[in-house]
Amino acid sequence: MASAGNGGGGGGVGALKRSMGPLRLQYYIVMGAVAAAVVLATLRYMPGPAIPATATAGSSATTTSGGGGAVVRSAPAAAAEVEDEEQAQEGTTTATTKKKRRKKGDGLVLFNFGDSNSDTGGVAAVMGIRIAPPEGRAYFHHPTGRLSDGRVILDFICESLGTPHLSPFMKPLGSNYTHGVNFAIAGSTATPGTTTFSLDVQVDQFVFFKERCLDLIDRGEAAPIEEKAFPDAIYFMDIGHNDINGVLHLPYHTMLEKLPPVIAEIKKAIERLHKNGARKFWIHGTGALGCMPQKLSMPRDDDSDLDEHGCIATINNVCKKFNSLLSEALDELRLTLKSSTIVFVDMFAIKYDLVANHTKYGIEKPLMTCCGHGGPPYNYDPKESCMTSDKYLCKLGEKFISWDGVHFTDAANGIVASKVLSGEYNIPRVKLTSLLPKPKSDE
Ligand SMILES: *[C@@H]1O[C@H](CO)[C@@H](O)[C@H](O)[C@H]1NC(C)=O
Ligand SMILES: *[C@@H]1O[C@H](CO)[C@@H](O)[C@H](O)[C@H]1NC(C)=O
Repeated sequence: MASAGNGGGGGGVGALKRSMGPLRLQYYIVMGAVAAAVVLATLRYMPGPAIPATATAGSSATTTSGGGGAVVRSAPAAAAEVEDEEQAQEGTTTATTKKKRRKKGDGLVLFNFGDSNSDTGGVAAVMGIRIAPPEGRAYFHHPTGRLSDGRVILDFICESLGTPHLSPFMKPLGSNYTHGVNFAIAGSTATPGTTTFSLDVQVDQFVFFKERCLDLIDRGEAAPIEEKAFPDAIYFMDIGHNDINGVLHLPYHTMLEKLPPVIAEIKKAIERLHKNGARKFWIHGTGALGCMPQKLSMPRDDDSDLDEHGCIATINNVCKKFNSLLSEALDELRLTLKSSTIVFVDMFAIKYDLVANHTKYGIEKPLMTCCGHGGPPYNYDPKESCMTSDKYLCKLGEKFISWDGVHFTDAANGIVASKVLSGEYNIPRVKLTSLLPKPKSDE
């Protein structure tokens, strides 16, 4: 069956492999009983996005007719091929809009830190996980390593800014870092030590990358990013979901006590980036994890903890608390970090609105998984899932928020991104475009 094989990181990842131990182990633990596929486990472990909703599916579904042929690579296709196709396909996609976009994104550099919500293929590359169809079906028309049927929010942000999708730092084939680097790895926590690519490690990787660039420049060689682009770059962060996920089994007051150390890690990461020259920060809060089919499908005694929209109130309260603590931490940083811009994005409000007002977005079943198992009401079974042959898969173009019970569909991510870009959910209430470097001259 078309389930994901574990590539096993076979090839040349020798040295890396050793340090990868812990993460690998986690996968297996998570996988535990799961027979089907590594990917499933991966999906599960990488709680990302949480809410449901879909909306502009129409447009996304039609977007890439360009790559049709390539899509059907059968299972053994090496990751490399997939990556190349992706690159090529992305190329053609942007080609249509090239004039405006090219110009628009010129010289713009973005760095991103996070988990599966913004992983553009990092975990698949570094772990050698072959993520199988129907992943990617709605947009790229083949799996790209993203945990979605299409794009993640970051991809839409890149498109709106006119830059190509960001290449993962850990993807050796087909990456191009001219417009920045994506350090996000699915499954990552802000808390150090619990995952291999926790936020502190992602920041280490950034520092490494920057130093390598400066070193190359010093020696008169070509670097993907020039020195003066670093302070002008925008630094995105979307992390914390996995940390929250890791405490949800605890009593309510204990969960709340576990949040400040997570926030402290995010704060520390921002401070370190600032020390290393970063000045423009765009920080996403956490989504409404209590609306995720994965959470909703867990056995419960009764429905007394469900809110008016059918989401788990306790979990959402933890998420809201997380966001308010994060927002406060950013308030503090605005006072201490000189000459920087720090924007908080209330992802909870954005993603909860998608559920609460789902009909407005053309979504019929905001709490149901598109690609899952078991059918209504949630179509989610932790032991079976999107990769099994008897999965329950929604029709292409049907509007769903949740792709796999944890991660969003391309359509939902598109709606979320447009809200992120609107500036209406941000503190301060600025648009992302206000952070763009001023054009130097009209060249
Ligand atoms: C990387 O991307 C930039 C900008 O999109 C492009 O100009 C450049 O040719 C690319 N480099 C390679 C090696 O493909
Ligand atoms: C639903 O939409 C209305 C109208 O736009 C808005 O006022 C309300 O806050 C939304 N509900 C949620 C939960 O976001």
